[in-house]
Amino acid sequence: MPQHQKIDATTVVYGIIGHPVAHSLSPAMHNAAFEAMQINAVYLAFDVTDIDSAVGGIRSLGIKGLSVTIPHKVTVMGLIDEVDPVATQIGAVNTIVNRQGHLYGANTDWIGAVKALEEQTKLAGKKVLVIGAGGSSRAVCTGLVHQGSQVHIANRTEEKAERIAQALGCSWSGLDNLQDIQAQILINTTSVGMEPDIDKLPVPEDILERYDIVMDIVYAPIDTMLLQKARAAGCKTINGLRMLLLQAVAQFEMWTGSQAPMEVMEHVLSQKMAHTP
Ligand code: ATR
Repeated sequence: MPQHQKIDATTVVYGIIGHPVAHSLSPAMHNAAFEAMQINAVYLAFDVTDIDSAVGGIRSLGIKGLSVTIPHKVTVMGLIDEVDPVATQIGAVNTIVNRQGHLYGANTDWIGAVKALEEQTKLAGKKVLVIGAGGSSRAVCTGLVHQGSQVHIANRTEEKAERIAQALGCSWSGLDNLQDIQAQILINTTSVGMEPDIDKLPVPEDILERYDIVMDIVYAPIDTMLLQKARAAGCKTINGLRMLLLQAVAQFEMWTGSQAPMEVMEHVLSQKMAHTP
């Protein structure tokens, strides 16, 4: 419940802009973090279709920081004052920091993905197969390349894989012949396996046993069919909530300059997921 009695004239406003945003898990995570750290701030969800006016609003209302989600992650780049070099390379901003009126854009999706993997393994020199070539793939692959991994991108529409791979110096293919690709880590960045199609797999089951680690960015359900089959094949697995949590942790730290209370945010996230129908 909102802590109205604690909101006063000095309360700092943060939020998320997107369309739709009603199901976002970010308000719960960030408000719990502000509360735990005793920071006088509130994080709200703004359902925004007119992104130009919304960016004007950040400036005029003095909103200190925003998460940016679909469909504004690309458009917003042209409306703010500075974009961090990795976000420029990814081609998407998911975080705005208002530095005394100077709007700085960053991308924490790649940080979330890299941190989630680095909890399990070193990434330098590792071979990674990434399935999918959408916006999420671009963030994940950029992060991996920055950490020194060798990335192969495989996508249903091969030309989209080619475009990302060419930009990042990776190899690419369609989804046929995935058994010919040698890698230690497999990452699904497609929506295959997401509710309601929870029994679908993005790759043939029989290739899973070759991987040490399998990560899925799908988090609804938390334990996707891919992760279940990967565990059965002896792989370590990383679920999509870990990346979601760790990208939010990175946002909190950019906004406040303080270490985020990760356990608090993780607890709220799993509680929210448990109550999601
Ligand atoms: P996001 O921003 O979450 O990455 P996206 O940009 O729409 O979302 O990308 C979705 C990715 O999932 C794409 O790589 C898409 O493949 P195509 O480029 O061929 O469209 C992939 N995808 C979605 N449904 C799929 C399916 N049923 N089988 C294989 N790949 C699928």
